[in-house]
Amino acid sequence: MIPTELISFKKMGQPITVLTAWDSLSSAIVEAAGADIVLVGDSLAMVVLGHETTLPVTLEQMLHHAQAVGRGFTRPPKEQPLVVCDLPFLSYQCGEEQAVAAAGKLLKNSSTAAVKIEGAEPEIIQVIERLVRMGIPVMGHLGLTPQSVHQLGYRRQAEDKKSQERIIKNAFSLQNAGCFSIVLEHVPSNLASSITSQLKIPIIGIGAGEGCDGQVRVTADLLGLSSKQPPFSKPLIKGRSLFINALKDWVELQHAQVKNPTKSSSL
Ligand code: KIV
Repeated sequence: MIPTELISFKKMGQPITVLTAWDSLSSAIVEAAGADIVLVGDSLAMVVLGHETTLPVTLEQMLHHAQAVGRGFTRPPKEQPLVVCDLPFLSYQCGEEQAVAAAGKLLKNSSTAAVKIEGAEPEIIQVIERLVRMGIPVMGHLGLTPQSVHQLGYRRQAEDKKSQERIIKNAFSLQNAGCFSIVLEHVPSNLASSITSQLKIPIIGIGAGEGCDGQVRVTADLLGLSSKQPPFSKPLIKGRSLFINALKDWVELQHAQVKNPTKSSSL
């Protein structure tokens, strides 16, 4: 599937499923689960690399993880999920040239087919237009944009009328700039539904209610593996305690098997 084909999902009312992956183990699982899109999200900075925010992850690290994600797929290429990779903080905010080089590096050296960019400021719109003109598909990201955590926090966004109007305007700007889809994170569900019905391109929600064209989740959150679980992403299973208990049983079993001291150990 090529990114622009996602519009047909919206036309047919077919929900789009997006799950994050960060290595070959997780991408194999996400592919087998049947997700339409695998997002190599910069949330891996927090989920996998142990950072407090998404800001520290570098382009080289994103590429390293995107390459591992591609190696995990087992289906023939045409049947594999579409891979979208986040452009990390400061790889696109400093101008079009740098953004093209960063996105190009991901597309050239991994199975990434599209990049995701946060925000819709005039400079970002210019970057998106340039990338799209260069043949690089772009997914937008509005609402809670974690790369702006020091300005926005991790709070729900667009609570008042003025910021709701701004987000609607921004969504149209992203569509006009050529984005094939937009992630809408942690905004009121009525706003997300309204944007979904007004735009031609698919809106993928997280913490944005059920009225979007699709949903994206951080796989570690769904599996209950994350140490800090966001309020809008309820785990499907208690993965963390399941794994800990299974491994604890194994460790205790090993400890219980007291070995006869060998002759050499008594020397
Ligand atoms: O980095 C990420 O995982 C994301 C999702 C939360 C949409 O951007």
